[in-house]
Amino acid sequence: MADLHLVILAAGKGTRMKSALPKVLHRVGGVPMIEHVIATAKRLQPRSITVVIGHHADALEAALSKHQGLTFVVQEPQLGTAHALLTTESALRHASGTMIMLSGDVPLLTVNTLQALLSRHESTGAAVTVLTAVVNDPTGYGRIVRAGQKIARIVEHRDATEEERRIQEVNSGIYAFAVEGLFDALKDIAAENAQREYYLPDVVALYRSRGRTVETLIANHVDELRGINSRVELAATSRIVRDRKNADLMASGVTLDDPQTTYIDPDVSIGADTIIHPGVSLEGRTTIGAGCEIHSGVRIVDSRIGDRVVVHNHCVINDSSLESDSAVGPFAHLRGGAVVGEHARVGNFVELKKTALGAGSKAMHLAYLGDAQIGAKVNVGAGTITCNYDGVNKNQTTIEDGAFIGSDSQLVAPVTIGKGAYVGSGTTVREDVPPGALAVSGGKQRNLEGWVDKKRKRS
Ligand code: UD1
Ligand code: CA
Repeated sequence: MADLHLVILAAGKGTRMKSALPKVLHRVGGVPMIEHVIATAKRLQPRSITVVIGHHADALEAALSKHQGLTFVVQEPQLGTAHALLTTESALRHASGTMIMLSGDVPLLTVNTLQALLSRHESTGAAVTVLTAVVNDPTGYGRIVRAGQKIARIVEHRDATEEERRIQEVNSGIYAFAVEGLFDALKDIAAENAQREYYLPDVVALYRSRGRTVETLIANHVDELRGINSRVELAATSRIVRDRKNADLMASGVTLDDPQTTYIDPDVSIGADTIIHPGVSLEGRTTIGAGCEIHSGVRIVDSRIGDRVVVHNHCVINDSSLESDSAVGPFAHLRGGAVVGEHARVGNFVELKKTALGAGSKAMHLAYLGDAQIGAKVNVGAGTITCNYDGVNKNQTTIEDGAFIGSDSQLVAPVTIGKGAYVGSGTTVREDVPPGALAVSGGKQRNLEGWVDKKRKRS
C-alpha cells in the first residue's frame, strides 16, 4: 500500500453559522464537530494529518493542542477550498502516495466509508477519486455532472443551471488524491465563479481535460456525508449522533424511557439494567454502573457512578464520584471532586464541594459541605454549613466516624469534630470537638413568662 496522508480543511469562516466561535468547534452530539473528523482520520493510521486553519486560527489551534502529531497550516486569506488545499504544499513537499482530504464540517463520516474510498482510489490508480452521494434534497451541494458513466465535472449550487440543480448526485467534499502532480494542478485552478473563490471541485474538469483518471465512489450511507453549514444542520446532525449512541446503549441493556429527550455524549458508558428517565444529560467522560436509576432533569458531567445508585430528580453532578448503593437528591449539587460513599445518602438542597461523605453517612436536607472530610455513619443535620472560606483561604473541616451534627450548625474551618461527638442544634463550632464530647454554643435559654400578654396590652 502507498503512503497515506490526511488533510482536514477547517479554515473557512462558517458565515452561515452567525457565530463568534469557529464553526468546526460547535458541538455535534456533545463533541466539537472537528473532533469527530480527527478521530476518524486517526483510525486510518496515516503518516501525517495536516489541519488547514485560518478564521480564528489561534482559538482553533489551542482547542486542538491536546492532540499529538497534528500539523497546522494557516490559510490567510481564505480564498476557497482549492486555495486551502494548496497551503499544505510545503507541509507535504516530501510526501508521496495518496492524500485523503476531509472537511472539518462533515463529522459523521465513518472509517469504513473512507477505507472503501481508499481502495477504489488505489485499485483504479486514479488521480482523484470523489466521494459522492445520491440525496433527496441536493440544495447547497456541488452537483456531479456526468458524461455517460464518467464524471465530467462538479458544479456548485450557486453556479448551476436549473437543469443541473435537478441532479441528485452530490459532492461530499471528501476526496482521495494522488499526491503526484496535485499541487501543480491546484495552481491552475481559476476563481471564475459566483463566489470568486478557488474551488477544489474544479480539479475534476481540469484532470479530465489533461487525460488523468477521475473516479467516484457513491457512498451507501448518505447521512454520513452531511455537511454542517447552519445551526439547523448542526441540530439535525447532533440528533443523528445522539440516536446512534442511544441505540448502542439500549442494545447493551440500558433502558432509556424516552430516547428523544436523553442526551448522552459519545464517551459515556452505562451498565446493564440502568434506567434513564426523560430529560437527562450525561456528558464528557461520565461512567455509570449497572442497575442504577437516573431520574428526570439530571445533568452529570465527567463523573463516576457506581452500581445500584439512585439519582433523584434535578441533580447537577460535576467531576464527582458516587459509590455503589448511594443515593442523592432531589435537587442536590455535587462538584469539584465530591465523593459519596457506599450506602451514603444526600438529600434535597444539599451541596457538596471537594467533600467526601463516608460510607453510610447522611446529609438529608439543606446543607453546604465544602472542603470537608466526613467519616462513616455520620449524621449531618438540616441546615449545616461548613464555613470553609475565611475570605483568603479555603479551610478544611474533618468530621470523624459516627459523629452527629445537629441542625442549623456552622462549622468554622479549620475544625475537627471527633469520633462519635455530638454538636448541639444551632451551634457555631469554632474549636475542635473532642471524640465523644457534646459541643453547644450560645447563651443559656431564658423564658420570659407572660411576655406576650404584656406586649399586647401595651399596644
Ligand atoms: C463544499 C464543496 C461542495 C460540496 C460540499 C460538501 C467547494 C467549492 N464546494 O461546499 O461541492 O458539495 O462542500 O459539504 O469546495 N474551507 C477552507 N478554506 C476556504 C474555504 C473553505 O478551509 O477558503 C473549508 C471550510 O472550513 C470547510 C470546508 O473547507 O471545512 C468546506 O467549505 P464550505 O465553504 O463549507 O464549502 P461548501 O459550500 O459546503
Ligand atoms: Ca460545508
